[in-house]
Amino acid sequence: MAYNLLKGKRGIIFGALDENSIAWKVALRAFEEGAQFTLTNAPIAMRMGEIKKLAEQTKSEIIPADATSIEDLENLITKSVEVLGGKIDFILHSIGMSPNVRKEKSYGDLNYEWYLKTLDVSALSFHKVMQVAEKKDALNEGGSMLALSYIAAQRTFPDYSDMAQAKAALESIARSYGARLGELKKIRVNTISQSPTMTTAGKGIAGFDAFYDFADKMSPLGNASAEECADYCIIMFSDLTKKVTMQNLMHDGGFSSSGMTNALMEKFSN
Ligand SMILES: NC(=O)c1ccc[n+]([C@@H]2O[C@H](COP(=O)([O-])OP(=O)(O)OC[C@H]3O[C@@H](n4cnc5c(N)ncnc54)[C@H](O)[C@@H]3O)[C@@H](O)[C@H]2O)c1
Repeated sequence: MAYNLLKGKRGIIFGALDENSIAWKVALRAFEEGAQFTLTNAPIAMRMGEIKKLAEQTKSEIIPADATSIEDLENLITKSVEVLGGKIDFILHSIGMSPNVRKEKSYGDLNYEWYLKTLDVSALSFHKVMQVAEKKDALNEGGSMLALSYIAAQRTFPDYSDMAQAKAALESIARSYGARLGELKKIRVNTISQSPTMTTAGKGIAGFDAFYDFADKMSPLGNASAEECADYCIIMFSDLTKKVTMQNLMHDGGFSSSGMTNALMEKFSN
């Protein structure tokens, strides 16, 4: 159901790789709600990906950018303002990647070059996006910046490895930049901490299926789907959440507040 919640708003959506991506679902919902936006992803990912299909479906332009490159981000922000015909109201940062996770390095044997890469791609890039946009004066008053996080920022999970530190930094950047952009332009900056979700990034974590099932049983409402995450993002981009800022918003079916659930009791009683 569409409510025109984003009518007249202009945005940039990072991270739609394929139709399982959370960013893909956000783009479809944002289009339904009347937003105009550009789509972006790392050039290397776009050659493999199917982003053109999404661009056609949502009448949006694709502007490649490696989110760690200031030059790419400058080009992306300038072109987005041009293409969309005005300043930006919302940005979705839906980016995560760890070479250590990809190569299945154990936490006691991390490659530090890769560790820095993890932090740069998965956390610092959020700062870079906002800093470039601020310097270019490309953001509209009252806008909304959003990044996707995971509860491994607060608690340990096997094999999430250096991504846990990346998510902790990401959430901290949201608070610090939220303070700045709030005072400067009444812009909100938040992270949404999402349930395990079956996407390329999700399935890249060893033992993801066990993780997924455990979280589902540990959440009174069950795991939140990518579509439900998209709905939450839309509300956060809309004018209905104008005073919500500098928060890490749990979107996890109740997982983060559960000590034990009946579903898990049943499983362990057998
Ligand atoms: N899937 C889950 O279980 C889950 C749970 C909580 C949070 N998240 C977070 O949601 C976000 C989106 O992930 P997803 O699950 O939709 O997976 P996904 O693999 O579909 O998306 C990750 C995206 O990051 C992009 N990316 C990687 N390096 C980049 C770079 N240098 N520049 C620009 N883009 C780059 C990839 O191309 C890809 O589009 C990530 O931040 C992820 O950590 C995922």
